[in-house]
Amino acid sequence: MTEQVIQLPTAGESTYDTYDRIRERGEVVPIELPGGVPAWIATSYQAVSEVLDDKLFSKSAAQCPALHDGTIPADWPMRALTDIDHMLNKDGLDHRRLRKTISQAFTPARVAALEPRIEKIAANLIADFPSGDRIDLVSAFTTPFPVRVICELFGVPTAIQPQLKDWTTTLISHTSTGEEAQNAMASMLGYFAELLDSKRREPGDDLTTALLQANAANELTDDELCNMLWIVIVAGHETTVHLLGNAVVTLCTHPEQRAKALVEDRWADVVEEMLRYKSSVVGALMRYARHDVTVAGVGIPAGSMVMWYGGVGRDARRYPDAGTFDIDHDHRDQLAFGRGPHFCLGAPLARLESRIALSMLFNRFPRLSLAVDPADIEYAPQISTNGPLELPVRLDSAT
Ligand code: HEM
Repeated sequence: MTEQVIQLPTAGESTYDTYDRIRERGEVVPIELPGGVPAWIATSYQAVSEVLDDKLFSKSAAQCPALHDGTIPADWPMRALTDIDHMLNKDGLDHRRLRKTISQAFTPARVAALEPRIEKIAANLIADFPSGDRIDLVSAFTTPFPVRVICELFGVPTAIQPQLKDWTTTLISHTSTGEEAQNAMASMLGYFAELLDSKRREPGDDLTTALLQANAANELTDDELCNMLWIVIVAGHETTVHLLGNAVVTLCTHPEQRAKALVEDRWADVVEEMLRYKSSVVGALMRYARHDVTVAGVGIPAGSMVMWYGGVGRDARRYPDAGTFDIDHDHRDQLAFGRGPHFCLGAPLARLESRIALSMLFNRFPRLSLAVDPADIEYAPQISTNGPLELPVRLDSAT
C-alpha cells in the first residue's frame, strides 16, 4: 500500500508532532504544504548537509517554475515568504553583495560590545514582571526580550515593537490567509521605508544608521535596504523568542541539568545544547533543486521546493544519544544555524542574548517551575519556527 503524503501542517496535530512523523518516514520525505503545494524535506544530518550544498540547491525562487507558471496561485499564503527579495532568497554574487553590506554594520565586535545593553533589557523586563507568583513567561519575557533587543539595536522605537511582532506572527502563521500575509508584509516594508528615512534625517547610535553608512556608495537600493531590515529584524527575534520558550520548558523538565547550569555557570553550554536538542527553527524555507538530484537515495526533480528539518540535531545516526538533553554534550557541529553561505548572520547575537536571558531568569528565580503539565503546553501554528504560545510558570514555587 502506498503511504499518504504527509501534510505540513496536519489539521489537529501540533507542528512538532507532524515533524516527528515526517522524520520517522525517512531521510528525504515528500510533503504537502498549505494549498496542496508539493515539496520535499530533508531530515537526516547527511541529507540536510547535501541540501545545504549550494551547487545542488538554489535559494532563488527563479529556479522554481511552479511559482511562475500559474501552478501555484498568486494568493498562496507562503508567497509572502518565498517571493520577497532578501539575502536569504538569493545565491552567489547577488547574495554576497547584500551580505557584505550588513556584515560591515553587524560585526561580531559590535555584537560583543552590546552585552551591557542586552543585560539591561533583560533586567528591566524581569523587574517589570506582573505581580503575583504565577505569570505567562511568553508574554512577560521570552517574547518581549528578543523583540526589544533587535529593535533597540536597529533604532526601532518602543511604541511600534508590539506591532512589528504582530505583523511577523500574521506572516508566518499557517492560519493566515494569503491576503493577510501579503498585507502584513506590505505594512512591514512600508514601516522600514519610514525608518530608513528617519535615520537619514536623524542618524542615531543604531544599526540602521550603521547600515546606511555601510551603504555610503549607494550600492544597495532602498528596496534592498528595506528587505534587509525585514530579514534581519524578523529572523532576529522570531527565532530567539521560541528558543527561549523551548529552553524554559526543557530546563524545568530536566532539574539536574538546570542545577548544574546554575552551580557551574554553564549557560553558554545550555544554549548550545538547546540548539541541538530543540531548536526554534523547525523547518528552514526554501531551496529549489538546480537539476534532477538524488539525496539519500531519493530522486528530487529539478525545480522542486525543498525544506530542511531544523530538528536535525536529534538525528541518532549522527548523535548516538540524540534524545538526551545533557549540557556536557559537545555537539558543536549541529546545524541549527545552517551551514555555508547562508550560515546565520545573527548566531553570535542569538548565543549572547539567549545566554544572558536564561542566566538572569534562573539566577533570579532559582525555584521557577511550570504551572502546567508540559504535555498541555500549546505550540504556535507555524511550520518554520516554533515554540510555546503561552508558558504559565510559578516564579517561586516551594520545592
Ligand atoms: C536561536 C536563534 C536563531 C536560530 C536558530 C537561527 C537559525 C538560522 C538558520 C538555520 C539560518 C539559515 C537558513 C538556511 O540556510 O536555510 C539563519 C539565517 C539567518 N539568520 Fe538566523 N537564527 C537565529 C537568530 C538570528 C538572529 C538573532 C539574527 C539577527 C540578526 C538572525 C539573522 C539571520 C539572517 C539575516 C539570516 C540569513 C543569512 C543569509 O542568507 O546569508 N538570526 N538563521
